[in-house]
Amino acid sequence: MTDTNAKIRIDGLSKNYGDFTALQPTHLDIPRGELLTLLGPSGSGKTTLLQMVSGLTPATSGRLWIDGADWTGRALHERGMGLVFQHYALFPHMTVAENVAFPLKMRKLPDVDVKRRVAETLEKVQLDAFAHRFPRELSGGQQQRVALARCFVFRPEIILMDEPLGALDKALRETMQLEIRRLHREFETTLIYVTHDQEEALVLSDRICVMNHARVEQVGTPHQIYSDPETLFAATFIGHSNILKGRIDGVANNGLTRIATGSGNFVGRMGARDTEAGEHALIVRPEQLRLGSANGEGMNEVTARLRDIVYIGSDNRLILSLPDGTEFNARQDPANVSGLNVGDEIKVHWPIEAGRIVS
Ligand SMILES: Nc1ncnc2c1ncn2[C@@H]1O[C@H](COP(=O)(O)OP(=O)(O)O)[C@@H](O)[C@H]1O
Ligand SMILES: [Mg+2]
Repeated sequence: MTDTNAKIRIDGLSKNYGDFTALQPTHLDIPRGELLTLLGPSGSGKTTLLQMVSGLTPATSGRLWIDGADWTGRALHERGMGLVFQHYALFPHMTVAENVAFPLKMRKLPDVDVKRRVAETLEKVQLDAFAHRFPRELSGGQQQRVALARCFVFRPEIILMDEPLGALDKALRETMQLEIRRLHREFETTLIYVTHDQEEALVLSDRICVMNHARVEQVGTPHQIYSDPETLFAATFIGHSNILKGRIDGVANNGLTRIATGSGNFVGRMGARDTEAGEHALIVRPEQLRLGSANGEGMNEVTARLRDIVYIGSDNRLILSLPDGTEFNARQDPANVSGLNVGDEIKVHWPIEAGRIVS
């Protein structure tokens, strides 16, 4: 037993293939009922981590704890987790209803309960009208709904999904994301979801675990990671970031950190764990930039050249070039932009707390 309230405790799990490291030792506690996303580029170790939780791949080192019990050596079939992958792996010779009934029959539920549960679940994924079709008679999105139904129908306490929407077009993916969110809440499962798509992670997750190069970069709520990225990678992988490179130049009188850049000296927040040596970058989100001169304290200000104004639907994106050539984007309400011309030299400012310094 381990002393934890976590539903799932990933306790130093790692994976090597020969001398290649697919995943460095990883620690992660996942509370009951959470939807946690593993988000990272292709090859960052997401599938490897998920498969070690599922039991499909043995770990090189570390332990897996479920409800405080050591599950490291348990076989896949003993884990009873729900699995959904990109390739739906429906049984082609079974109807939709038979596919969804399969996990219940495996568990030897009485026929009346099987019938009821299948009907309920098909209704929840809006497939009740398709119960008697075969998988080949369904679209990709419908097939993936069957896979979701087949997973949720036996009410597993833990569900693992590896890029389940990867083969679907964008509109369908967005619908299915909301569906997964709804099903997750309704069934109160603990769910680990793998994706390389940051928007998908933002829509779905209670927390996001950002991965890169076989390791975890940051774990936090979507808001925490967006507003307080701890690494340059996390800042660039989630949302748009303005990045200004520089070196640490001591502490400002308000306790925040000074950074010296080719476009001037600025103040921002630095993480407690960061070191001061070497290259750093100041990260400012586009919606934090304001037009004009700063009035009063607590602002960073810079003079920039307006390179372009791009209309992006709800607002405008201003493309700015800072004195050292760094490009900044500013999001602005169209009303603020009238009167500006490409080529103008303008001042912009932002609150010092809105800038995050990362290494
Ligand atoms: N069976 C294997 N043998 C050797 N290398 C592997 C194997 N499985 C995965 N890898 C490597 O481990 C790394 C992480 O893979 P993976 O976990 O699948 O990444 P992701 O799911 O984030 O795209 C990749 O470089 C991949 O090529
Ligand atoms: Mg993968």
